[in-house]
Amino acid sequence: MANRIIIGAQWGDEGKAKIVDYLTEHSDIVVRFQGGANAGHTVIVKGTKFIFHLIPAGIMHPGKECVIGNGVVLDPAQFLKELKEISDKGLDYAGRVFLSDRATIVMPYHIALDQLREKMRGNSKIGTTGRGIGPAYMDKVGRWGIRVGDLLSVHALSEKVTMNLEEKNALITKVFGEKPFNAEKLIADYLAFGEQLKPYITDTSVFLAKAAQNGKNLLFEGAQGTMLDVDHGTYPFVTSSNTIAGSACCGSGIGPTHIHSVIGITKAYTTRVGNGPFPTELTDEMGERIRNVGGEYGATTGRPRRCGWFDAVQMKKAHQLNGFTSLAITKLDVLDSFPKMRICTSYTLNGETIDTFPGNIDECAAVTPVYEEMDGWNCSTSAAREFSDLPEKAQRYLERLSQLVGVPMSLVSVGPERDQTIVNSDF
Ligand code: IMP
Repeated sequence: MANRIIIGAQWGDEGKAKIVDYLTEHSDIVVRFQGGANAGHTVIVKGTKFIFHLIPAGIMHPGKECVIGNGVVLDPAQFLKELKEISDKGLDYAGRVFLSDRATIVMPYHIALDQLREKMRGNSKIGTTGRGIGPAYMDKVGRWGIRVGDLLSVHALSEKVTMNLEEKNALITKVFGEKPFNAEKLIADYLAFGEQLKPYITDTSVFLAKAAQNGKNLLFEGAQGTMLDVDHGTYPFVTSSNTIAGSACCGSGIGPTHIHSVIGITKAYTTRVGNGPFPTELTDEMGERIRNVGGEYGATTGRPRRCGWFDAVQMKKAHQLNGFTSLAITKLDVLDSFPKMRICTSYTLNGETIDTFPGNIDECAAVTPVYEEMDGWNCSTSAAREFSDLPEKAQRYLERLSQLVGVPMSLVSVGPERDQTIVNSDF
């Protein structure tokens, strides 16, 4: 039995879905445990592109089961849309999707408030995906939340929608000057969603505990990335959930002793979408080149991603927070044509050298990266299937990243297709 957690080690978009897709072959159940439709997980199989926002990417594998845990904030319309897209593409998901009765519902007023609050922030916008994630988590923690199980009860849903709208409508009309939501319509719409979601709803924490007892292999699929963690990331420029490995237990209801390994996914360089500090960001033509070669545009919003060099200081912080047992390094092929590569090994701050990621947001924004330079390999890596197939300079580059972070490599991805993956034989 091997229960694994997959975590984005940077600011999200590290190529987790491809690695999850790959590891699903060796798993029985894939579990989402935090975030919502802000995530965009892209998998390419035989040239066909699949983008998942809520359903675990493991659904692509016949016979594998997928769980959306209690820690997720769920937009029912998006969930049903994805199920339809999956069946339109000829995949059969019957009996394989399980939705926690305790997951929090993203309501239309959350989406409205997310967008209105962003507008109100003016120049200090977070750059959210506008999917209602922050306001939905605010209600969960504030104990105003509507949960998946509530959609099955006329009484519970009516009471909660009415109570919520008393506050939300006052805010939306009086503070933001927008139109109020109609309680009766929302109650009717969300009861109808409840009927459609009913076949999938269960106590997923009990389901997972039984699966673990029966020796099933569980794969926990993190969304976003470590530096977007609401506690440990570049606050306030973060998402509203805990994105680090510890969250897999809270967000699925499984005990930490069931977990055997934590795989950190990192690109061979760094990207970020949305606002906030990014020490190794390249705002010159080099950054533009990484963006173009790497196709660095958001899967959820289409926004261009900010691009920069690999940051070993940030990655060491990610290892400290997640306790990685191995690293999966993605998009190595994007660097194939670069004559020189840079790796950030420390920062300078106020004239001093530091090798830790600052907790203070102003200090994060003020650091200057210190780089070491390595030669590029100037040839295609996309056909490599063994580590030894890689040009020696690419091998040295990967080994240096792993050495600086202090974590061994288990996987290297050299292209978007499933088979463009190098697996360390010790893994
Ligand atoms: P929110 O999660 O929509 O509230 O957005 C908060 C921050 O997290 C913004 O900077 C988003 O761009 C970022 N973010 C949210 N989801 C993802 C993701 O899946 N990948 C990368 N960044 C994300």
